[in-house]
Amino acid sequence: MQFKKFQDKLIPNDIELLVPDNSPSNILIYIPWHEKYLEYVQPEFKDFFLKALPKLHARTTDVHTAISLSYLDKIIDLHQDKANRQVVALGLILHDIGWASLSEQEIIDSLSDYKGLVLSETTKGPKERHAIEGVKVSGKLLNDFDFEPPLSAEDKQEILDAVKYHDEPEQGTVNAQLVADLDRLWSFTHENFWQDTIRKDVTPEQYLANLTKDSETYFSTKAGLIIAKELLQDRAKEVEQSK
Ligand SMILES: [Fe+2]
Ligand SMILES: [Fe+2]
Repeated sequence: MQFKKFQDKLIPNDIELLVPDNSPSNILIYIPWHEKYLEYVQPEFKDFFLKALPKLHARTTDVHTAISLSYLDKIIDLHQDKANRQVVALGLILHDIGWASLSEQEIIDSLSDYKGLVLSETTKGPKERHAIEGVKVSGKLLNDFDFEPPLSAEDKQEILDAVKYHDEPEQGTVNAQLVADLDRLWSFTHENFWQDTIRKDVTPEQYLANLTKDSETYFSTKAGLIIAKELLQDRAKEVEQSK
């Protein structure tokens, strides 16, 4: 893997990072959306993803949602227990749609002062609000979309609950917990790992250590933790290469 200089740090060559003009420090840094990320979306969910996409551009949510979705079948296979694939997929597509309804200051607060995965007091308020706003936007999008066959009222409610509880998965159903784990896997992916080393101003070695430690208690399902461990091994190799 090739690395390039970004400010005073190294990141993999294939990662494009943009800093908006109004960004205080690197906190609003993001990976720009590109068509190539649509390839991560399963064909049967592509139309709905495209319907949601205009509201997914805040906070790298577009790239995050597509990449997290790429682990859908893997987590369901590993989970080995009853899961509703459509509910999980739609819940994941919608889980962060509420960010588009928040102010820039709330988004800055949501990203501030944490070096690992544990949330601080500043990040909590906007985190709670993006879930509440997300439920409102999601309800409308689900009602306006022609699903074939139509979504049952129960499935719709479970999708909305998955959006509402994705940061409090202990309150959700097993499908909501799978959504939460797919969401959380984002931190362990190639794209977000390196993006976060810049955004959080943490060395790759330190961030790898933080994620490794936090991962043990971070997932609701065993399947989520298994995939996270695999991703951590990939990140460890990359961190070695970056030295
Ligand atoms: Fe979220
Ligand atoms: Fe998310």
